[in-house]
Amino acid sequence: MPEISRKNWEARLEAVRSDFAASALDCLATLEDLELFRVKYLGRKSELTELLKLLKDLAPEDKRALGPQAQKLKSGIETAVARRQAELEDELLQSKLANESLDVTLPSYREPRGRLHPLTLVMDEMTRILTLMGFSLAQGPHVETERHNFEALNIPKHHPARDMLDTFYLKDAPGVLRTHTSPVQVRVMEKQKPPLRIICPGRVFRHEEVDASHSSVFHQIEGLAVDKGVSFADLKGTLDFFLKELFGSGTQTRYRPSYFPFTEPSTEVDVRCLFCGGSGCSACKRSGWMEILGAGVVNPNVFKAVGLDPAQWSGFAFGVGVERVAMLRLGVSDMRLFYENDQRFLSQFDENLA
Ligand code: PHE
Repeated sequence: MPEISRKNWEARLEAVRSDFAASALDCLATLEDLELFRVKYLGRKSELTELLKLLKDLAPEDKRALGPQAQKLKSGIETAVARRQAELEDELLQSKLANESLDVTLPSYREPRGRLHPLTLVMDEMTRILTLMGFSLAQGPHVETERHNFEALNIPKHHPARDMLDTFYLKDAPGVLRTHTSPVQVRVMEKQKPPLRIICPGRVFRHEEVDASHSSVFHQIEGLAVDKGVSFADLKGTLDFFLKELFGSGTQTRYRPSYFPFTEPSTEVDVRCLFCGGSGCSACKRSGWMEILGAGVVNPNVFKAVGLDPAQWSGFAFGVGVERVAMLRLGVSDMRLFYENDQRFLSQFDENLA
């Protein structure tokens, strides 16, 4: 026995049809309301779905006759719902376009852009000039042997430069933090045969009080040229050219006699104070000059330490203080500014070193 009569089924389908015909589909104002409407007529618990399920209880010929009617009503409702949905979505888009207009004349946000540290910029500039002059890059470790940092550079055991006050010794191992880039001279000469022209930009460490012109971690660029017949005149010509490229063609330099165990003769080179032009200020300690590098003719003892014959080879070496140069070049009167990493300071400098 069928649980539902054909008549009854037809009456219920007709009720759905007329209920839908009388519905206010076109008055639904939101997509949410439309979804409720769709669930009511087409959802799993809707009368129409129920009727479609009940088809199986009807006689086969009734099923054949009535099935298509229910399907037709169903797809009619689906089409109507889809049409209303498209209308509502379009209305929504139109009102968004009308209300959320963009003001393309508003200033845009500036994305913060990373840049190189001023010390890197200055070190790169010095490296650029020196490599154009024919020097190649060399490197050495921050943790050095005492032989490379001292002995081979003619700094014997009890030399004051080895004083505990200046040198950081490692606690549980032999070795020191290099106090200058000069050990790289030794490393290069141990490995390569002259003629040699190398530079080494790098970090160095000294046990020093930090103040406006000193830091316990700072940077140097070491230079070394070894060949036959190299003289102090070659050193002067090289440094004068380098400093004029770096600071400008009108740069004045001063060579003072000095002493380094690994060079003989030795000199310290000053440039006219760029802050006061030479009249004397606090940056140059009232002298009108700023010391930026140490240099000299390679001491024969250094050649002997690396197995080169001092009768055959001669050379010059120099070590430039990068921070000193950067202060002069960038007009910075306190070295500590380079290490504090205050963005307001760092962001002032770009590749043009302006
Ligand atoms: N190494 C020396 C210093 O740190 C500088 C220097 C390098 C002097 C090479 C002479 C030759 O002060």
